[in-house]
Amino acid sequence: MKKLIGTIIIGLSLIGGNATAADKLNVVCSAEQPWCDLMAKGFEKQTGIDVSMVRKSTGESLAQIRAEAANPKIDIWWGGTGDPHLIAASEDLTQASGIDTSDLLGWAVNMSTISEGKTVGIYAGALGVAYNRELLAEKGLKAPSCWKDLADVSYAKEIQVANPNSSGTAYTELATFVQLFGEDEAMSLLAEIGKNVNQYTKSGSAPSKAAARGETTISIGFMHDMVTLASSGFPLEIVAPCEGTGYEVGAVSIIKGAKNLEAAKKWVEYSLNADVQSRSVEVESYQVPSNSKATVAPESPDLASIKLIDYDFATYGSTETRERLLKRWDRDVKNVAKN
Ligand code: F6P
Repeated sequence: MKKLIGTIIIGLSLIGGNATAADKLNVVCSAEQPWCDLMAKGFEKQTGIDVSMVRKSTGESLAQIRAEAANPKIDIWWGGTGDPHLIAASEDLTQASGIDTSDLLGWAVNMSTISEGKTVGIYAGALGVAYNRELLAEKGLKAPSCWKDLADVSYAKEIQVANPNSSGTAYTELATFVQLFGEDEAMSLLAEIGKNVNQYTKSGSAPSKAAARGETTISIGFMHDMVTLASSGFPLEIVAPCEGTGYEVGAVSIIKGAKNLEAAKKWVEYSLNADVQSRSVEVESYQVPSNSKATVAPESPDLASIKLIDYDFATYGSTETRERLLKRWDRDVKNVAKN
């Protein structure tokens, strides 16, 4: 009899366990913290599902998802540049969400097409250069207008940019240089610019925050992050480099083996909703939303007026290309900068 009661109790607690499992969701977020928080709160309010969230840069998120592949702790990866999401998809670390993409813009659907539905675009943003106009004037420096200008000796130790191993922003920069100049010239140019770099940061938005505070004169990063700072009153000028520039398609993916799959699917649906995407202005995140019915903030950099390259997401979102470029960057760019 005792055994029977024990079995019933275990059975009931398992049913209870399953019921509560549907009420939570583990998210790794690679956008800015205020937007991550807004998304989590809004989702909890709408669905009653508890969100446990951690913020990590794109490359760091990919590393965690790879490391936990046998026993995933994360259900959803939301935000961050699209290439590492495509890589996760090709390594079978993520799974198709089955989401309807009919309201999404072409560049967002493209991510889904390349990955066979395992990732999809949530926002887009162009890469650029920012400088602190007060510091620039104080130091008597000329404003840069092209990528190649950044190699000028007058900018020694004046530039800050992230490390492409951890940061999706900096990987987008690396891939952009390769697409603009070819691999060998890109590496030499990055090494030349590297002589002017005072720090390679972990996160992609950190260099522009440092330029805003006057801790570095020039930063490389996404223009929308620069706009956030400039529109809050920091003395930042934003430059779209003359050679043309690359862009990101930020993405959302469901982790393969997600323990809270139904909740994860709801998150994907939530994050592609036009009203939800339109709320990003509340936290001054000015990426262009992927839902064609979402409101584009007047502050959002107008992608149509920027000279954008035809960024090859399939190639630069492949494991082989990323590993090769990062290895070369570590050898030819990062180590040179230390000398
Ligand atoms: O604002 C955040 C943001 O610029 C996103 O647009 C982008 O996807 C993400 O940061 C990349 O962050 P990181 O370079 O740290 O991976």
